Amino acid sequence: MQLLKDKKVLITGAARGIGKAVALGMAGQGADIAFTDLKIDDQAKETIKQIEAFGVRAIAYASDAASFEQAHQVVSQAVHELGRIDVLVNNAGITRDTLLLRMSEQQWDMVIQVNLKSAFNFIHALTPLMVKQKGGSIINMSSVVGLSGNTGQANYSASKAGLIALTKSVAKELGPRGIRANAIAPGFIISDMTDQLSEAVRKAWTDTIPLRRGGTPQEVANVCIFLASELSSFVSGQVIPVCGGMYT
Ligand code: NAI
Repeated sequence: MQLLKDKKVLITGAARGIGKAVALGMAGQGADIAFTDLKIDDQAKETIKQIEAFGVRAIAYASDAASFEQAHQVVSQAVHELGRIDVLVNNAGITRDTLLLRMSEQQWDMVIQVNLKSAFNFIHALTPLMVKQKGGSIINMSSVVGLSGNTGQANYSASKAGLIALTKSVAKELGPRGIRANAIAPGFIISDMTDQLSEAVRKAWTDTIPLRRGGTPQEVANVCIFLASELSSFVSGQVIPVCGGMYT
């Protein structure tokens, strides 16, 4: 049985990493996929091919998720091409890590815009349609540091905590319209984002994880599939850590 047969999904920042794993995982469950990334480069084209190999549709848009206007354009084009959107995954994210004392205004603003405002942009553009459809599932990619805070990541942690409050507010406000909203809080997941860290920093992280390893993008995607599907039909306003027990 395919858990997302004929569902239409929109994912931000899915050319690679966790977003790509979510796109492929959902395509494998029968969903048509629209995704965005800053550029539709060779990596993104390869993602399109891999999605299509599941026999579903793949559409990609070059778009900056932090732009309110571009987010609205993507949503209207995706709805035009796919007819409806059942699932929104706000995944696009960046880091600009540094200690608070050294953090520039630009480092603060950029992370808040890309990680938090982007989710508002897509939720703002898409929820009127989900209200008309009388349903939808919104998944926001937060982080365990949005729950715990983290040295050197004041901007990133604040953006991810903001996503959690946004998720809970959407769940309360739009639950009566049949729309569910949940957040996933990945811990240390092996991707381009974490490959930028030094070996010592990566070892320090894994030593704090009870399962003693980083997670895979597929392990995050599996929880996304659950939250997108009817298996989670009574789950809303929640944060699900996917962190090997690190945040407990
Ligand atoms: P990644 O850097 O491998 O992929 C992020 C994707 O988002 C890239 O394809 C990038 O081009 C795209 N992107 C960046 N800015 C964008 C923008 N303004 N508009 C559209 N697309 C944009 O990162 P990864 O690890 O796959 O992260 C995905 C999400 O998961 C992020 O929100 C991240 O904060 C979150 N996360 C990751 C963790 C990890 O350990 N890798 C842990 C916790 C959360």
